[in-house]
Amino acid sequence: MIKVGIVGGTGYTGIELLRILALHPEVAVTVVTSRVDAGKNLNDIYPNLRDLYHLKFTVPTFDSLKKCDVVFFATPNGIAMTMAEQLLQHHIKIIDLSADFRLKEVAVWEKWYGMDHACPDLIKDSVYGLPEMNREQIKTASLIACAGCYPTAVQLGLMPLMEAGLIELNTIIADVKSGVSGGGRRGTVPMIMSEIGESVKAYGVEGHRHLPEIKQGLASMASGKNKVSADEIGLTFTPHLIPMIRGIYATVYTKTTANLVDIHALYRTRYQHEAFVKVLNLGVEPNTRNVRGSNFCQIGLFKPQGKDTLVILSVIDNLVKGAAGQAVQILNINHGFSESLGLETVALYP
Ligand SMILES: NC(=O)c1ccc[n+]([C@@H]2O[C@H](COP(=O)([O-])OP(=O)(O)OC[C@H]3O[C@@H](n4cnc5c(N)ncnc54)[C@H](OP(=O)(O)O)[C@@H]3O)[C@@H](O)[C@H]2O)c1
Repeated sequence: MIKVGIVGGTGYTGIELLRILALHPEVAVTVVTSRVDAGKNLNDIYPNLRDLYHLKFTVPTFDSLKKCDVVFFATPNGIAMTMAEQLLQHHIKIIDLSADFRLKEVAVWEKWYGMDHACPDLIKDSVYGLPEMNREQIKTASLIACAGCYPTAVQLGLMPLMEAGLIELNTIIADVKSGVSGGGRRGTVPMIMSEIGESVKAYGVEGHRHLPEIKQGLASMASGKNKVSADEIGLTFTPHLIPMIRGIYATVYTKTTANLVDIHALYRTRYQHEAFVKVLNLGVEPNTRNVRGSNFCQIGLFKPQGKDTLVILSVIDNLVKGAAGQAVQILNINHGFSESLGLETVALYP
């Protein structure tokens, strides 16, 4: 059994980690933190987890976490980086769900996240946590930066094409919708039902923090003669908030002269050994409902009217494959467990 701590156990991704890890046969959650609910019994606050844990929330300190083998950070940006050095020095592995260690260039991170990085020297040692892309590096890493929710859906949607160099780099448009749990659990006016219900809203159109992350990821997928830098990728990324609780729907447009049957075969081959990525039959559109509560990504491929525009539809549950499920998948890879351990859940329907 490995001893796990969760920093930020009262946010949506922290609660989702608790839900998934409750049934994980190789994990014992020994510490769960919340400053607001410190001292309270987990059972009393989250009845859905009743009797699965016998833990109280504690304040996040090194002392409370020092007996853990692995610490998940399910915290806002800027928190993991303040504790990472000390934990790593004590050989405690970190799986960070925030963005603190996702971007490789410190200046780019500081520009998009609007703060100084607390431990820029650690960035080079962190591994970007998208298992389908970086499985080998994840196996031996001590500091893993889980991919963001939007970036997971978009990158899985484009990965086979990027690897094969079958894409016109200046023509990528990612029009992506997220459920409101993507914004976390803190209550703000723009997130209340009467603001979000019956309405769809784009945001971050001029630039969203996940843009440099997606470009960095796409660039690192292209290798050999297809090698490109992040700057060479002309991606327009427009996120939207829609009135549903869970789910991300990425509609990605790009140009390619390759024919649809060949592209579909390429995707099927690329993902044939991936437990959590499903390439749908030609002509089938995915639906966020079909992955809700599960760690799956479903991908549909279209070339409307047989023209050169390829439409890639990629759906995930933002709290599972986009956050906590992916983090557990990473823990499994990193500890040599079966990659699906604790994640063999079927999507909820309806
Ligand atoms: N929601 C998603 O779909 C999603 C998907 C992928 C990645 N992420 C990322 O995952 C992280 C967590 O997201 P979330 O949606 O779960 O957030 P959230 O619902 O806002 O929860 C944040 C958690 O962090 C704790 N926290 C806040 N400030 C803290 C501090 N200064 N020190 C220690 N703990 C602190 C909070 O508890 P206390 O304030 O009581 O300590 C709470 O438990 C974020 O970085 C987010 O960008 C979220």
